[in-house]
Amino acid sequence: MFDGIKLAALCIFGTEGIAAGELRRMGAENVSAENGRVIFDYSPQMLVRANIRCRYCERIVLLLKNFKALSFEELFQNINNIPWENIIGKSGAFPVNGSCLSSRLSSVPACQKIIKKAVANRLMKKFNTQFCEESGALYKIHFVAIKDNFSIMVDTSGQGLHKRGYREQSLDAPIKETLAAVISDLAVIKSSHTVVDPMCGSGTLLIEAALKAKNIAPGLKRTFLCEKWEQIDPSVWQSERKDAVDSIITDCGFTGYGYDIDENAIKLARENAEKAGVSSCLHFERRDIRDYTDDFQRCTVICNPPYGERLLDYEKAREIYKIMGERFIREKGKSYYIISPDDEFERYFGVRADKRRKIYNGKLKCQIYMYFKA
Ligand SMILES: C[S@@+](CC[C@H](N)C(=O)[O-])C[C@H]1O[C@@H](n2cnc3c(N)ncnc32)[C@H](O)[C@@H]1O
Repeated sequence: MFDGIKLAALCIFGTEGIAAGELRRMGAENVSAENGRVIFDYSPQMLVRANIRCRYCERIVLLLKNFKALSFEELFQNINNIPWENIIGKSGAFPVNGSCLSSRLSSVPACQKIIKKAVANRLMKKFNTQFCEESGALYKIHFVAIKDNFSIMVDTSGQGLHKRGYREQSLDAPIKETLAAVISDLAVIKSSHTVVDPMCGSGTLLIEAALKAKNIAPGLKRTFLCEKWEQIDPSVWQSERKDAVDSIITDCGFTGYGYDIDENAIKLARENAEKAGVSSCLHFERRDIRDYTDDFQRCTVICNPPYGERLLDYEKAREIYKIMGERFIREKGKSYYIISPDDEFERYFGVRADKRRKIYNGKLKCQIYMYFKA
């Protein structure tokens, strides 16, 4: 039914290459990375697999059309030419939302109205009806207009893919699960590794590292919007979920250690690890960074220390960077991956990073500082 349609995985700016590599390894075809998204061929299997397995992407959408529109008439005609009857059917519901940036058609509500009208017009003509029932499955239409170029998409994921189902509660300033997974990728976490997070908060970095090390698909504990769509046979969901379960590495030596000064954080991290199904390889303990000692011959430290803006004042946050610099011993077998929005991080940490990577944590511009050369 969706033949000829493309899929797009929407991802954090700067992570397109990582997301594209993951999709290729999953079997996606004709994969190409663009700003904030990775495009690949549709198949029912790939739609389901990408939703269940993508660690780094925010959502998977049907990418229906890209076109330029300078007038509402052009917008209407382009939308009206899409075969919506094959997507939404006679009774599907189709809310429209989107955004406009540097475009002649700059009013989001006006574009929403025109798109809604053009889709309804097409459906009523095709099904010979006077109105659209919108009583069936949900097909959320999303448009993005940038410099007069429109992309028309339909969401397939529902809740963002960062919602893995293990973190219902969090403390202040948790890192997004997808970003935590990106850090694990940059740190090249493997199933034999020992990983430490000395300021673990609700445990997200370690949980994502464990999921990656054990090859546990992040979407195994949740459902997706397109599960209700009649175009995808339930057998595809069953077989993709079974394949994902069969690929879990059960006998790996991965071990993670999480510390935090806050007892509540430790309690929450334990609960989250339990819900994520990785508690047997993760150990959490209340510990101040001032008492941090490197107990392992080989280990990877991943860390999201407090920022001046959100948790502590700048001075206190920077004092912690200084303590980290003193405590994180640089020797063979040890590597450190630290995410911080503070441009002065290296100055306070005391060592220039071997490599840096710019990335957004929500709206906050951050860098991942990587130390891996002894
Ligand atoms: C930005 S949060 C980490 C969030 C975490 N990545 C998550 O996803 O929930 C920083 C953490 O550092 C902890 N922290 C602050 N000062 C500390 C110290 N002196 N020693 C250890 N942990 C500390 C805070 O309690 C907080 O949980």
